[in-house]
Amino acid sequence: MKIEETVRPIIRTENLRKVFGENRVLEDITLTIPEKSLCAIIGQSGTGKSVLIKSIIGMLKPDGGRVWFRDKELTALSDEELIPLRKAFGYSFQNAALFDSMTIGENLAFPLKEVLRIRSQREIKERVSQLLEWIELPGIESKRPDELSGGMKKRVGVARALITEPEVLFFDEPTTGLDPVLAETINNLVVRVNKELHITCVMITHDIPAAFRIAGKISFLDRGYIIADGRPDEIARSGHGMVRDFIRISFNELSL
Ligand SMILES: Nc1ncnc2c1ncn2[C@@H]1O[C@H](COP(=O)(O)OP(=O)(O)OP(=O)(O)O)[C@@H](O)[C@H]1O
Ligand SMILES: [Mg+2]
Repeated sequence: MKIEETVRPIIRTENLRKVFGENRVLEDITLTIPEKSLCAIIGQSGTGKSVLIKSIIGMLKPDGGRVWFRDKELTALSDEELIPLRKAFGYSFQNAALFDSMTIGENLAFPLKEVLRIRSQREIKERVSQLLEWIELPGIESKRPDELSGGMKKRVGVARALITEPEVLFFDEPTTGLDPVLAETINNLVVRVNKELHITCVMITHDIPAAFRIAGKISFLDRGYIIADGRPDEIARSGHGMVRDFIRISFNELSL
């Protein structure tokens, strides 16, 4: 039985389309993200994974199709109507994208002030310090991003996306550029966000073995279409030649 049929979707796209001039990046994307699931989006570099996520959360305006968040059609809402709904989404950028001129504490406080409009310094301090403890980097409030390692920065990037307590957290390649041990700590962090905080997680990743290990659902994007979609075991049995090759190469590289 397909996951979508058993669990309520929190996000749904229907015939989503996004073009940049002649570059037809997303042709026809119909995709379901089940509530409280951990989903992975995989596919070759440059195929449109980041564009897909940005089109779902409204950072890019789709050229066609629809996006729903629960029973609300986001693509039918005005920019103003979208503002409160956007708070339901967190987005951990492909390149951590911390503000270099701010301390870690200020980086984490930023969404609390700007998005949630929290004014109480005590509450901000408390939430920042609790979250730093939760990501196992306690007490680094006064450090600056350039004093942190790549792996620490990634964790702080995740924390910044998490601090507003979103209902869906999107991770764009959270492990790219990290050594395998650090990559594993980030993958574990994604699992903890999903299992301990009960947040729906959508992760773009090039780490195919990790996607197979931790995701409940995998969607394979290729040249504007989802060419395989389902549980890891369903994807592994996919009859699509390109999907099979991609997976075989990823796992073979691991065993070299
Ligand atoms: N803002 C933009 N304006 C114009 N073209 C864009 C824009 N954003 C992305 N593109 C194009 O859309 C295509 C898909 O880009 P995208 O970043 O989504 O790929 P990706 O699958 O995330 O790749 P990677 O795995 O390398 O991150 C590329 O051809 C890219 O040049
Ligand atoms: Mg990308």
